[in-house]
Amino acid sequence: MPTNKQLAITAFGEPGTLQVVESELPAPGPEQVLVKVAFAAVNPIDAKTRAGIGWAAEQNKDNLPWVPGYDIAGVVVDSGCHEEAFEKGDRVTGLIGFPLGGGAYSQYVAVDASLLSSVPAGVSLATAAALPVCGQTAWQALEKAKLADGEKVLILAGAGGVGHLAVQLAKARHADVYATCSQANCDYLSDLGISVIDYQASGLGNYQAFFDVIIDLVGGETGINALGALNGKGRMITVPTVTKDAVIAEASQRGLHADGMLVSPNRWQMDRLLTMAETDELTVEIANTYSLEKGADAHRDIMTGRTRGKILLEMPQ
Ligand SMILES: NC(=O)c1ccc[n+]([C@@H]2O[C@H](COP(=O)([O-])OP(=O)(O)OC[C@H]3O[C@@H](n4cnc5c(N)ncnc54)[C@H](OP(=O)(O)O)[C@@H]3O)[C@@H](O)[C@H]2O)c1
Repeated sequence: MPTNKQLAITAFGEPGTLQVVESELPAPGPEQVLVKVAFAAVNPIDAKTRAGIGWAAEQNKDNLPWVPGYDIAGVVVDSGCHEEAFEKGDRVTGLIGFPLGGGAYSQYVAVDASLLSSVPAGVSLATAAALPVCGQTAWQALEKAKLADGEKVLILAGAGGVGHLAVQLAKARHADVYATCSQANCDYLSDLGISVIDYQASGLGNYQAFFDVIIDLVGGETGINALGALNGKGRMITVPTVTKDAVIAEASQRGLHADGMLVSPNRWQMDRLLTMAETDELTVEIANTYSLEKGADAHRDIMTGRTRGKILLEMPQ
C-alpha cells in the first residue's frame, strides 16, 4: 500500500522547519479525483506562511503540521466522480486549496474535479505546474486593470513568477509593455519583445505620469515610488497583499487609482493559459527544480526575491 509523502510546516520559522511527513493516501470524495502529483510550484506566499506571516499563517497556526502549496500538475489515479469528468491516466493541473487549505507539496492529493484542467499533449507537467497561481494572477491583474489595446502598461518585477507571464499576456492584448528588472534580467525580458527598465541603473525618473496601467508585483516602497509614473487617469493593481493598504492609501492621497487583488481559481483562464503554452504564445520559465526532500532549499531560493520565472518541487515517484 503506497503512502503519501508530504512536505509540511511543522512550526513557524526558518526553512528547516519544513519536514517530510508520511500519511495514508487520501480517498477522493464524490466530486473529487485522486491525483498523483508530479510537480508542485513554490510561491512567495508559501515562504511567508512558513515564517508565520500573513493570513494563511494566522488561520493555520493551531493546525500545524500544515502542508503548503497551491499549484499541482500530475496524473489522475483514482476517481470518486459520478460524472467521470476525468479518467485514470489523464494529465491534469490546477490551483488548489487557495488560500487556507494549501496541500500541494504532496505526492497525492484528492481534489475537486471542478478545479482541474487537462494538460494538452504538447505541454510538460513541469510547465503546467508553473502556471496556476502565477498565470491566473497575471491574467486577473490585467483584467482588473481593464488593460486595453495600445495602452502603456508597466509591470514591476517583470522577470518573476507572475511578472514573466504578465508581460507576455499584456503583449497578447496588444498593449505597449514595459517592465522593471535588474541588469541580470534585461536581455531575458528584451527577448520577450518588451521595453525594459533597469531599476538599479535608471529607475522611473524618465517616466513621470507616463503609464496607463501599472501592475505592482513588488509592493511597499517600490509600489509607492512607482505611483509617480502613473498618469492621472491610470490604474495601479498592487498585488502583494501585505503592503496593499499602504500603497492604496498613498495613491488615494495623490488622487490616483490603486486597487489590490486576490487570485481566485478560474478554469476557463487556466485552459486558455495551457493552450497559449502549447502554441508557444506563452513561454514558461523554470529557474530551478528541487526534490520534495530539498524543499527547504527551494524556500531559501524563493526568499531571495531574485529568482527568474518559477521554482518547482518534484515529487518522489
Ligand atoms: N494577491 C495575490 O493573489 C497574489 C498572487 C500571486 C502572487 N502574489 C504576490 O505577488 C508578488 C510577486 O510574486 P512572484 O511569484 O512573481 O514573486 P517572485 O517570483 O519571487 O519575484 C521575483 C522577481 O522579483 C524581481 N524583483 C525583486 N525586487 C525587485 C524590484 N525592486 N523591482 C523590480 N523587480 C524586482 C526579481 O527580478 P530581479 O532579480 O531582476 O530584481 C525577480 O525576478 C509576491 O509578493 C507574491 O506574494 C500575490
